[in-house]
Amino acid sequence: MSAGLNNVVDYINVHRDRYVDELKQYLAIPSVSALPEHSADVRRAAEWTADALRTAGMDNVRLIDTPGNPVVYGDWLNAPGKPTILFYGHYDVQPVDPVNLWTSPPFEATVRDGEIYARGAADDKGQVFMHIKAIEAHLKQGGGLPVNIKFFIEGEEEVGSVHLDDFVRDHKDDLKADVVVISDTTMFDRGVPSICYSLRGLAYFQIDVRGSKSDLHSGVFGGAVANPAIVLTQILAQMKDRGGRIKIPGFYDDVRPLSDEERAEWKKLPFNETRYRKDLGAPKLFGESGYTTLERVWARPTLDVNGLYSGFTGEGAKTVLPATAMAKVSMRLVPNQDPQKIGDLFEDYVRKIAPKTVEVKVTRMHGGRPWMTEFDNKFVRAAGRAIEQGFGKSPVFVREGGSIPVVATFERELRIPTVLFGVGLPDENAHAPDEKLDLGNFHNGIIASAYLYQEIANT
Ligand code: BES
Ligand code: MN
Ligand code: MN
Repeated sequence: MSAGLNNVVDYINVHRDRYVDELKQYLAIPSVSALPEHSADVRRAAEWTADALRTAGMDNVRLIDTPGNPVVYGDWLNAPGKPTILFYGHYDVQPVDPVNLWTSPPFEATVRDGEIYARGAADDKGQVFMHIKAIEAHLKQGGGLPVNIKFFIEGEEEVGSVHLDDFVRDHKDDLKADVVVISDTTMFDRGVPSICYSLRGLAYFQIDVRGSKSDLHSGVFGGAVANPAIVLTQILAQMKDRGGRIKIPGFYDDVRPLSDEERAEWKKLPFNETRYRKDLGAPKLFGESGYTTLERVWARPTLDVNGLYSGFTGEGAKTVLPATAMAKVSMRLVPNQDPQKIGDLFEDYVRKIAPKTVEVKVTRMHGGRPWMTEFDNKFVRAAGRAIEQGFGKSPVFVREGGSIPVVATFERELRIPTVLFGVGLPDENAHAPDEKLDLGNFHNGIIASAYLYQEIANT
């Protein structure tokens, strides 16, 4: 280890508490991209991110407008001849509902038992901030960074990154780099740092069913027209068989089969299925038959109903025949499924199985391609060494069931490898009440990030 990095790590250790205080300010901004009433907060979070980059000592920091929320850009390009890292993350967060289930208010970050609780703590402000602080430590203490770095932080990840494909295509030169680094995933488990080499994709839809022009008295008209709630649930019930297999014709055509090597590797991971089930509070696990739980969430596609609404759901009873029923349905996709093609198959199937008694409308929401990479490259090896320095353990290689739509776009457009090094934990309640981030992982993550730049410089 170079003397320079010793100083950098000392700086990170000395400023540990200040980093947490600053993170609290970042987490106080309710940058919920899904809700229009928060658009000013979203912009404020973008500005806050930009200020943090400036404070860290980065150059050319600015907000770049898109047709949606602004992108935050900043760079430090004073290491001629050294590789350039493109760091990606997001400053937007998920909505906080149901807010009454939070132990402390979602935008008043609170530390309990070594975890910081707030919306965005793990996903993704905490992980973005970790890299900003690693850069600050290098620039304030080491005098410079050992690599070139471009920061690219967006504000629409949680709503599908719909404007990002165009943005990346239009800014290929600005984003030119040797490797993409992202911290927006989880570790396999507490004390098991991980590098992720595959993400699932997504295809998201809304189905609207209408049975009459307005709600009807269920006594006067019940029996004369179809009930849209029943029709919709019948449609949904035909999406999967009892073995968890999706019944849309052609759905599995492009699914890349799991390799025997991968299956064997995953069997070695410290996965405790009983604990997993208990942590989830599920009476019994369920998924596609013929696959283990890890295989199901990492390497197999799935279909879920994300929301369902019809008729009277208040207290008491109301004799009504609802005019409409609505469902949000999404599919997680795996290599080499294409969201567009899956969308066509889904729509065709819904139309085919829908009865003539109702009007059915299918609306396509956002989507994203699945992604998978060969992880035997020098950048991944560099990340492995950095993680070992930060966490005292070399990482395991995992896939993830979640999606980060822009990763596949980076690969297609920029043609460079991506390293996904995340420090969240599977039980940190991302997207749920009481989201949190382990402060030990946050701190070790800053150290690992500081090493990562050094290790990538040495490649
Ligand atoms: N950080 C997550 C994705 C993630 C979570 C990857 C855990 C791996 C492990 C990201 O912010 C996210 O939530 N993505 C959305 C994408 C969607 C809105 C297009 C997702 O996966 O639902
Ligand atoms: Mn995220
Ligand atoms: Mn998320």
